Amino acid sequence: MTDEQVGDLTGRRLGNYRIDGVLGKGGMSVMYRATDVRLGRKVALKVIGEHLGADAEFRERFVDEARNTAAIDHPNIVPLYDFGEIDGMHYLGMRLVDGSDLASLISDGPMRPERAVGLLEQVADALDTLHRRGLVHLDVKPANVLVTKRESIREHVYVADFGLTRRGATGHRTRGGDFLGSPTYAAPEHLRGEPLDGRTDQYALACVLFACLTGRPPYPGDVQTVIKGHLNLAPPSAVRVVPSLPRAIDAVLATGMAKDPARRYNSCVELLAAASEVLTSSRPRETPPRETPHETSRRETPPGGNGRPPQPPQQPHGSRPGAMPGPAQRGPGRVPPPGYGSPAPEPVPPTPTAPTGNYSPQPQNPQPSWLVPLLLSAIVVLAVLLAVVIIATA
Ligand SMILES: Nc1ncnc2c1ncn2[C@@H]1O[C@H](COP(=O)(O)OP(=O)(O)O)[C@@H](O)[C@H]1O
Ligand SMILES: [Mg+2]
Repeated sequence: MTDEQVGDLTGRRLGNYRIDGVLGKGGMSVMYRATDVRLGRKVALKVIGEHLGADAEFRERFVDEARNTAAIDHPNIVPLYDFGEIDGMHYLGMRLVDGSDLASLISDGPMRPERAVGLLEQVADALDTLHRRGLVHLDVKPANVLVTKRESIREHVYVADFGLTRRGATGHRTRGGDFLGSPTYAAPEHLRGEPLDGRTDQYALACVLFACLTGRPPYPGDVQTVIKGHLNLAPPSAVRVVPSLPRAIDAVLATGMAKDPARRYNSCVELLAAASEVLTSSRPRETPPRETPHETSRRETPPGGNGRPPQPPQQPHGSRPGAMPGPAQRGPGRVPPPGYGSPAPEPVPPTPTAPTGNYSPQPQNPQPSWLVPLLLSAIVVLAVLLAVVIIATA
């Protein structure tokens, strides 16, 4: 779609809206920054081209987009303010998100795993809410995830663009049967025109997680290469792109991106919980916490057992630079001394050099305990002898 076809309304007035500038351009619409002059409120205004407004199929889809955006009241779904038609132009007015989309945030390279998890957890929650209402977004991709810093200290995310959102299990095609949307993050069942549900969005969300962690989509290349990748190739390894990532993340991504929807997680939130566990629990810590021997023995049981699909064997602890040393490497220094752990355990000195003084049941003075009374007795005896000598000579 060229600029001429969609047009640029910047500087013009559309009903009660003053168009202030362009936020983004899609194939069929332009997203503007605008001002609602009645309320004095800044808004994002999505306007579809006049020629498309005349197309009944397209108009229907635009009405669907408005209804689907309005259907879900969720803190992570961009709120719809207005919807209408002026001078043959159809528009949607919504909250202006002051920030940037995820596509811009990762255009320079990978994102910190903790940040990616913090942002995508919000997306996962919004998508699961959508799915519980029987809707499937079908266009989950970084450009449709808006990130703002204004609302609170924590970065707040809005899922946007419900233009392809569908109710029910039908694939989304034009009446001519063409696939709608970008294949870069599309699930195999979506590309094949098979039945869809929330797991189709989960696949796309796993692809977005891959993109956040590596700075590139899972199957880069031209459209044919991308489609072939989603349909036929195994999920790619994020660790191969960014070797500092924990190896277990590849299994989480592979489950989210399983070709068979039945092998994916039960929800988007589950996918993010698994990713969070792997990405945040195995990060190297600056200062290892002090442990009691009891805690050490508890750590001997490897973490996991959360009902997640099987993951590949973990890399031996400590073999990755900066990894936490595993229990096996804690060495004899952590083996309790004989008698340690008896029914009445003694407090353990925090360090070998720390004074244990008052709390120790054992005397800490190296001098024998009988020395003081002996010296006192000797002094008394000498004093008595001296007194006897003085009396005798007097
Ligand atoms: N509410 C909003 N506030 C600020 N920017 C937005 C908003 N909605 C969308 N955008 C920006 O405009 C772009 C296009 O909007 P989108 O609804 O995704 O339209 P399209 O259907 O053309 O993809 C987005 O990728 C995002 O960068
Ligand atoms: Mg979009």
